[in-house]
Amino acid sequence: MTDQPKIELHLHLEGAAPPDFIRQLAAEKGVTLDGVFDASGSYAFNDFEHFLQVYEAAVTVLQTPEDFGRLTRAVLEQSKANGVVYTEAFLSPDFCGNRDLGAWREYLAAIEEAAASVSGIEMRGIVTCIRHFGPEKARETAVCAVETAGDFITGFGMGGNEGVFTQGDFAPAYDAAREAGLGLTTHAGEFGGPESVRQALDDLRVSRIGHGVRASEDPALISRLVEEGIVLEVCPGSNVVLGLYPNIAAHPIDKMRKAGVKVTVSTDDPPFFHTDLRAEHTALTDTFGWTGATFAAVYRTAAQAAFCDAATRARLLARLE
Ligand code: ADE
Ligand code: ZN
Repeated sequence: MTDQPKIELHLHLEGAAPPDFIRQLAAEKGVTLDGVFDASGSYAFNDFEHFLQVYEAAVTVLQTPEDFGRLTRAVLEQSKANGVVYTEAFLSPDFCGNRDLGAWREYLAAIEEAAASVSGIEMRGIVTCIRHFGPEKARETAVCAVETAGDFITGFGMGGNEGVFTQGDFAPAYDAAREAGLGLTTHAGEFGGPESVRQALDDLRVSRIGHGVRASEDPALISRLVEEGIVLEVCPGSNVVLGLYPNIAAHPIDKMRKAGVKVTVSTDDPPFFHTDLRAEHTALTDTFGWTGATFAAVYRTAAQAAFCDAATRARLLARLE
C-alpha cells in the first residue's frame, strides 16, 4: 500500500535539502554554519520562528544556479525513492539571485534542467514569495513568476511567517500572478487561525491552501471549504514537529476529510521534520486506519488540484488507476 504512486503538492525545495547536502556545500565553499545542526547532525530549532531562522541560515550555502541544480536532483531522487511520481516544489527567487529577473532565469534554467534529468518523476515549480520579507519584495517575486510562467512554472504561492502582514497585503502580487494564468496557493491556517484562511480565500482568491488545518476550529469555515471545493495541502508531520498538535492522533486531517474537505498529504520540509511521504502514509494508516482506497482518493484529489495542464492531469489520473 505504501508503494502506490504518490503526488506531492507542498514541498519547499530548500526545505527538502538533507543536512548532509548542506554540510557538504558549506565545506566546499568554506562557509561556517553556526546554530543550524544539533549534536547528531540534524537541523535544530525550538519553535516556528526559530525554524524559519535556521532554514534561512542553511540556505546561505546555496549560492549558484549549479547549487540549486544539484539540490533539485538530490531532492527528486529522494522523492522518487519514496514513490512520488509528480511533485510541485516551492521555488524562491529571494534565494535565487535576490529577485533579479535575469539571475532568476539562470537559477530556474538550472533547476528545470536538473528536473528533466531525473526520469520517473515529474516536477512543476510554484514561485513563492516570503511573507516576512514584505509585500514589496513579493511584487518583485511575482514579476519573476509572471515572466517565467509556462510549462514548468505553473503556480504562485507564499510561505514564511503568518504573524506579520495580512494576506490582503499581498493582493497585488497575487493579482499579477492570476492575470498570468498561474495557479494560486498560500500558507494559511498553520500558525494563523481560521481568520487567516478566510482572508486567503477572500483577498487572494486561491484555489489551494498550504496547511489550512486551523480551519478545523470553525465549523462554518469547514462548510465553506467543502462548498467551494478548496484543496488543502496538509502536512501532518510538519504540524506535529512545529507544535500545532501533540501527535498525529490529535491532528484534524481525518476529521476534515470525513467532513468532505478536499485534503491532500505532503511533507513540507522533510528532513527538518524527520519525515518523507512514505512515513506520512504509515502514520496515517496506523493512526486513522487509512487504506489503499483512502490514499487513492486523496491522490486523485491531488491530481485534480495540481497546477498542471490537462494532458499531464490525464496522465497522472491514469497512473493512479
Ligand atoms: N517555509 C518553509 N516551510 C514553511 C512552513 N511550514 N510554513 C511557512 N513557511 C515555510
Ligand atoms: Zn510549507
